[in-house]
Amino acid sequence: MQIIRDLALLEQALADLRADGGTIAFVPTMGALHPGHLALVAEARRRASHVVASIFVNPTQFGENEDLSTYPRRENADAALLEQEGCAILWAPEADVMYPDGFETPVAAGPLGAELDGAARPGHFDGVATVVARLFDQVRPDFAVFGEKDYQQLAIIRALAQRLGLGIEIVGVPTQRDADGHALSSRHAYLSEDERRDARALPRALGEAAQAIQLGQPVDETLARARARLEAAGFDPVDYVELRDAETLAPLSTLDRPARLLAAARMGRTRLIDNLPVLPA
Ligand code: PAF
Repeated sequence: MQIIRDLALLEQALADLRADGGTIAFVPTMGALHPGHLALVAEARRRASHVVASIFVNPTQFGENEDLSTYPRRENADAALLEQEGCAILWAPEADVMYPDGFETPVAAGPLGAELDGAARPGHFDGVATVVARLFDQVRPDFAVFGEKDYQQLAIIRALAQRLGLGIEIVGVPTQRDADGHALSSRHAYLSEDERRDARALPRALGEAAQAIQLGQPVDETLARARARLEAAGFDPVDYVELRDAETLAPLSTLDRPARLLAAARMGRTRLIDNLPVLPA
């Protein structure tokens, strides 16, 4: 696996990969890889002849009081994992390569970027849209693979890819969970043992609420019960527990189409998100 930090070298390496007429699947990450990321790489390998991954801790998607400076960074260990999983290229640019002096073309996430996580993290999805557009332009893959754990991000990137018209197919991969049901996340490293135990309430409350809604119980009451359960477990604040259209993420108060149950809440200093599919009978 080649580790590349320079754009000209990236272009040459990509041209070499494409020389045999094969396809490229791309897995963008911010590093601190866990088995959830490796499932994205495995899916990328199934889709295409070659896999390119990136590691870039993108400053423009972190708010002022967020964890940019403490975000876990372990590139050597990440590179070893990516090589083991069969990646051909690790694209690991420095910030001045991603955003050269005078860079002035931010990309807007659109109206969905201001809702749900976007309401709690203003500007976050514009930062994501900007870096993903830059990465797509640099790598020009046939496929790009993202986790369903960041479901709103996935919806925003699907819309972005369509808008950019680069012909990149966006592939979503189901959330990987640990034995306690936690959706795997690099931010779990911040939880204490007690917080980790208490945070099991999140996947449990979502699982119960998804089941209740599928069984026909009223949506609003079920969401309020799930919220109360999270608060009782020590989540503070609970930013949202909502049922949304699985594709457009429009709010739903009845289950009349494929839906997604989404929640975000803070445990201590760690903000956790999770979501589950909810399908009408
Ligand atoms: O999901 C992530 O790790 C990041 O938001 C992404 C898509 C790599 C953009 O920085």
